Amino acid sequence: MGSILNNRPELKKALDSVAEVAGYLWQKGWAERNGGNLTLNITEYVDDEMRAMPAISKVLQIGVTLPQLKGCYFYCKGTGKRMRDLARDPMAGGSIVRILDDCASYEIIADEAIVPTSEISSHLAIQNYMLECGSGYKATLHTHPIELVAMSHSQEFLDSEHLTQVLWSMIPETLAFAPLGIGVVPYALPSSTELVAPTLEQIKRYDVVLWEKHGTVAVGPDMMEAFDQTDVLNKAANIYMTAKNFGFTAEGMTPEAVQKIRTVFNLPDHR
Ligand code: 13P
Ligand code: ZN
Repeated sequence: MGSILNNRPELKKALDSVAEVAGYLWQKGWAERNGGNLTLNITEYVDDEMRAMPAISKVLQIGVTLPQLKGCYFYCKGTGKRMRDLARDPMAGGSIVRILDDCASYEIIADEAIVPTSEISSHLAIQNYMLECGSGYKATLHTHPIELVAMSHSQEFLDSEHLTQVLWSMIPETLAFAPLGIGVVPYALPSSTELVAPTLEQIKRYDVVLWEKHGTVAVGPDMMEAFDQTDVLNKAANIYMTAKNFGFTAEGMTPEAVQKIRTVFNLPDHR
């Protein structure tokens, strides 16, 4: 049996980009073992032959009902799979799933019955929201960026507004490319449905969500942009940490300087 990617150059190109991002996650040290996961809405590449493909798994439950996802198809990283393996071959580290008509369950159609990530309910709830608001966004990315996770171990930075202000003030590009900032979700068990509602609420307001003592969730029109959002904010956290290593607390740009960037570049303050 060949891969679903054979003779589907557009789908292959989209997944090549996912694989490229998976490689960056590993290189950055954000993807230990099976750490992190991602989904990509690939419905635009689905043809009649794909629609007719039989399921190769039993019906699996999402854990929530997501009406916008009816008839949608997603590429999902497999649970327990390594980003560094996915970087070489996305179909060996993940699978393509079809959402069923009840909008609460799905089945795997290709290439192998690799069970999707344990965080699938958060990913798909965000995908549902992105369709609902007509954003055109297709990608969700959860990863473990070291400096941002480290900051989430301090009570001081568990306040979304404060953390956002600190990060924006580290380097002008942070505000320019993450103008909505970062929202914090209090600790909850990884992969639990408890994470779903608070993550969704925060992603409606912020560019990136920080799961306390765990990792980030970002969205984008494609996987590269979701990666960039995380990278921009983690760079600011890294500058904050580097200053601490030098023995001082980074002064930060003044609130006036930050405000000027917002005004001059006419940056949005909501999605
Ligand atoms: P999965 O291997 O199930 O995707 O889990 C990785 C992870 O980071 C959980 O939060
Ligand atoms: Zn995780």
